[in-house]
Amino acid sequence: MGDAFEISLADFKLRLDRNEIEFILDLRLEDEFQSWRIEGNNDFEILNIPQLDFVGEEEKYLDRLPKDKVIYLVCAHGDASKYSAEVLCGLGFKAKGLTGGMDGWSFLYETSQASDMPVIYQTYRVAKGCVSGVIISDGEAVVIDAVRHLDQIKAVVDKHNAKIKYVFDTHLQADHISGGLELARFAGCDYFINPVDAVGANYEFRELEGGAEFELGQSRIAAIHSPGHTPGSTSFLINDKFLFVGDTIMRTTVGRPDLGGMVEAWAELLFHTIHQTFSKYSDETIILPSHAASVRERDENGLVCFSLGKARKELKLFSITDPGEFLEYVKSTLHENPDRYQDIRKVNLGLLQVEEEKKRELEIGKNLCGMASHQC
Ligand SMILES: [Fe+2]
Repeated sequence: MGDAFEISLADFKLRLDRNEIEFILDLRLEDEFQSWRIEGNNDFEILNIPQLDFVGEEEKYLDRLPKDKVIYLVCAHGDASKYSAEVLCGLGFKAKGLTGGMDGWSFLYETSQASDMPVIYQTYRVAKGCVSGVIISDGEAVVIDAVRHLDQIKAVVDKHNAKIKYVFDTHLQADHISGGLELARFAGCDYFINPVDAVGANYEFRELEGGAEFELGQSRIAAIHSPGHTPGSTSFLINDKFLFVGDTIMRTTVGRPDLGGMVEAWAELLFHTIHQTFSKYSDETIILPSHAASVRERDENGLVCFSLGKARKELKLFSITDPGEFLEYVKSTLHENPDRYQDIRKVNLGLLQVEEEKKRELEIGKNLCGMASHQC
């Protein structure tokens, strides 16, 4: 079969961004489809028919498929979708299978620049909504919440002829495998994480404490203990202006405090962080979180970035000033806590070694680090 029945990830993403994708046929199993799927900034029609039902039986489903639009088929790895695209083309449809399927889509990253002074970039993992931050000042770089695929992070650092001085993880990640330790080893620098989150870690790390200060070229970085999502969650204030918050605050929600199974204790920490710790910072402070719940949380420049004032105005938990009411509200929003998150934590503590295939399996699905959306 030729390339006429396929579309590359890059080409597909370009068309998605241009709002040229109108119809997707997703051939994965229903639970995989429910777990994550292709999302864009604009609406399009998406139909799920598992390949076990569809492949070889395409003619049964023709009345559910548009004749006047290109049908983009997505499967797990790209083989079934390419096959069925050719069959559909033979039946008079316009169809293309996404090369690499959802597996390939899950490794798609995009890089956006947030600031010139200091230089700040975000790399965004499109399918999962994971964001890594790179800050560069006078040839020195710090990386915050590095994902395990390091190419884009390294490319940004190389572009500015910088040397990585520090690698920080804001907290022990549960939804994805951190690349922080590997990046620090590559760069020959220290890896920092709060010791409360790294209890039992099977590797050496530098203990990240709230109140610590770091120099990065002409820039200053202040570490701020901001527990709640995890007890060791730490935020980083760059030059009193940019606040990297990890998962503590997101664009449409806050980091859920129930992933460790101690919702009452951690919600109390979160209450304090939101209403006391962050109260010291102005509305103009620019928040850069480490996760987005949806690609639609990115702005027109591809950044996941908003002001603290906006968060105060729009996020419901900022408006609940009674601790009891806060806890009740948190409990009312609880949702799925996937079992695989336990294994991901173990991997991130160096307590579980897994092969690439298992890493991919563990990371299936969008991140579920935020509480169910609760804008005012
Ligand atoms: Fe998290």
